[in-house]
Amino acid sequence: MIDFLTYEQIKEAADAVRSRITKTPDVGIILGSGLGELAEAVNDAVFVPYQEIPNWPVSTVEGHQGRLVIGELEGQQVLVMQGRTHYYEGYSMSLIGLPVRVMQSLGAGSLIVTNAAGGVNPTFNPGDPMLITDHLNLMGMAGNSPLRGPNLDQFGPRFPDMSQAYDLEYCDIARQVAAEHNIILNEGVYAGLAGPSFETTADLKFLLAIGVDAVGMSTVPETTVARHGNMRVLGFSGISNKANLDGSTITTHEEVLEAGQVLVPKLEKLIRGVLCRL
Ligand code: HPA
Repeated sequence: MIDFLTYEQIKEAADAVRSRITKTPDVGIILGSGLGELAEAVNDAVFVPYQEIPNWPVSTVEGHQGRLVIGELEGQQVLVMQGRTHYYEGYSMSLIGLPVRVMQSLGAGSLIVTNAAGGVNPTFNPGDPMLITDHLNLMGMAGNSPLRGPNLDQFGPRFPDMSQAYDLEYCDIARQVAAEHNIILNEGVYAGLAGPSFETTADLKFLLAIGVDAVGMSTVPETTVARHGNMRVLGFSGISNKANLDGSTITTHEEVLEAGQVLVPKLEKLIRGVLCRL
């Protein structure tokens, strides 16, 4: 089990992907739970199953396919992760960051990250996307960062700035695209928790009180690694369920996957619209 990725391990993975493609990817895209269908939109696609990439963390979760889909979308070369790995699956934080390191090694300068999330903000409805304007790093704050361990100077500094984790210009583009397509696009702060249990009612009241709008079990590690390597990041949460703030309902993975069906067409419009403006 890899605790701290080395530059050589990253290079090995990146070389394996590079040997399968002819063009440099511009944008990396990570598809969250129930959102994998978006990858079907990629043209002239090359598929690379995660099992065929050295050191790659393979996802075990239902609703996550496990492959890279690399090709063209709206004039951009995209490298899409159809399925991602989560920390709760047992991989080290450093390894959760490997896919983003590979994107950086291949030359991608931007990352679009998506996830399924619970709506903590009581005005949010399932089926509506949220533009991530900032995140709360509840996994990393207490020491569990994907950047823990020897710094990889080839990618970025020991102490990277995170003050504008989500690119302001990309956020503006996303707002414009949403308006053009009449898509309700909420905005807010995403909190990344380790999971895999959903939150208790007390957890959710705490998250609401500290300014969280949506909660999930991913994205924060990938954005942290992306910013360390100076990628510009755009993030969308697909709100799949209302957070159970009064303890009256239960949250299930099935409901998360079902909401994906409603969210995929909206996220596809948003991502296509953003890509053709980059
Ligand atoms: N909590 C945490 N993660 C999630 C949720 C939730 O309510 N919904 C989808 N992912």
